[in-house]
Amino acid sequence: MKILVIGSGGREATLVWKLSCDEHVDKIYAAPGNGGISKAAECVDIKADAQEELADLVEKNGIDITIVGPEDPLANGIVDVFEKRGLLIFGPSKLGAEIEGSKAFAKELMKKYKIPTAGFRTFTDPEKALDHLHDHGAPIVVKADGLAAGKGVIPCADLTSAKQAIENIMLSKNFGDAGDKIVLEEYLEGEEVSILAFTDGENILPLVPSQDHKRAFDHDQGPNTGGMGAYSPVPIYTPELDRCVFDEILARTVRAMANEGRRYKGILYAGLMITKDGPKVIEYNCRFGDPELQVVLPRMVTDLMVPVNAVLNKNLNEISLAWRPEAAVCVVMASKGYPGKYEKGKVINGLEQFEHSDDVLVFHAGTKRTDDQIITSGGRVLGVTSFGADIQSAIQNSYAAVKQIRFDNAYYRTDIGHKAVSRESKESRVMGV
Ligand code: AMP
Ligand code: GLY
Repeated sequence: MKILVIGSGGREATLVWKLSCDEHVDKIYAAPGNGGISKAAECVDIKADAQEELADLVEKNGIDITIVGPEDPLANGIVDVFEKRGLLIFGPSKLGAEIEGSKAFAKELMKKYKIPTAGFRTFTDPEKALDHLHDHGAPIVVKADGLAAGKGVIPCADLTSAKQAIENIMLSKNFGDAGDKIVLEEYLEGEEVSILAFTDGENILPLVPSQDHKRAFDHDQGPNTGGMGAYSPVPIYTPELDRCVFDEILARTVRAMANEGRRYKGILYAGLMITKDGPKVIEYNCRFGDPELQVVLPRMVTDLMVPVNAVLNKNLNEISLAWRPEAAVCVVMASKGYPGKYEKGKVINGLEQFEHSDDVLVFHAGTKRTDDQIITSGGRVLGVTSFGADIQSAIQNSYAAVKQIRFDNAYYRTDIGHKAVSRESKESRVMGV
């Protein structure tokens, strides 16, 4: 089997690593890939948004299945383009991807089908949005409707910052057309959990839960990032919560999409807040989470192509997934300054010792291969994942590895997984999720 992975981050490096462990996969292509991915896959210099060019590549090389990493190509309809040309591709159609591509659409869907989420109002007129802000008060969350590279969600503690956020999005157009419409949303208190599930449009097969660390600095301080680390399992995610999320969130969402004529296949990612009133959806994503996938996929024993094929064949009900019982922790090593300005081109040392390791997996994100070196080329540079009998020991193993990898201006959070350690409960370990 020949597989193409579209994208160039840590998520795609994780997909390529998992595929490289599958004896049924003969060749992996990545477009565009990165410095680490190029070890296991043939990297082709085609951007993720060049849909027809990617389809040409697939036809020319007899690639059997394409897996899409990032949301942008999905939201732009790459699945529709490939399917029109008779090519197998894993991911939702353009209509399906709107669940991530338009926050207003996602919120209306949740309202219509009684899927638990934060209260909200949608606005296209800034004056009306500001009026609502004064009636509602703070805290409040201001969200640009469209895709904004993870920056369009602004939780605001006070009215001044909320007013500023509305003006930045709707009047200054900081996120372009993505801010033509905004959602003003009730601020939810609680802890976040990421639930990713395979779905063929009818059947649902969840992956193990994970928790991301969105803020740049320790103790959840500083600006939001793409994610600075993750761990799995998640002790607060009890079997009761798992059942409730399956019935009230995942199953209702998949049924709702089918009902709306948008049968959804691929990965459905529910970003949840576990509030005192139960789990509520903060956001949907239409693809694997990053860095969540860097802890979830290493825990999966089953080959990735088993669920991928089952989604494409619409027989997900006929398979199950096996999981390693150990915990996994991923620490993201970033370029100092990320998510703001940072320098690139720094030589990365200390990677060789982990090249053939089964205990430490180093997933490349912003890296580039030069003649004989790997250099930094992005904000998030590497994801370092280790295992442990529990989260505490997985944390120790990951940080021990991180300390052996060096590049100028390397930055990482020092508290990944700490919240879980105090909560690590027997219950969630027994459940193995
Ligand atoms: P998103 O880009 O939609 O993933 O949102 C980024 C982050 O903003 C989330 O991971 C939460 O930490 C925070 N957030 C989003 N919506 C809410 C909400 N309604 N209440 C509290 N925090 C939120
Ligand atoms: N880690 C959050 C995301 O993938 O959107």
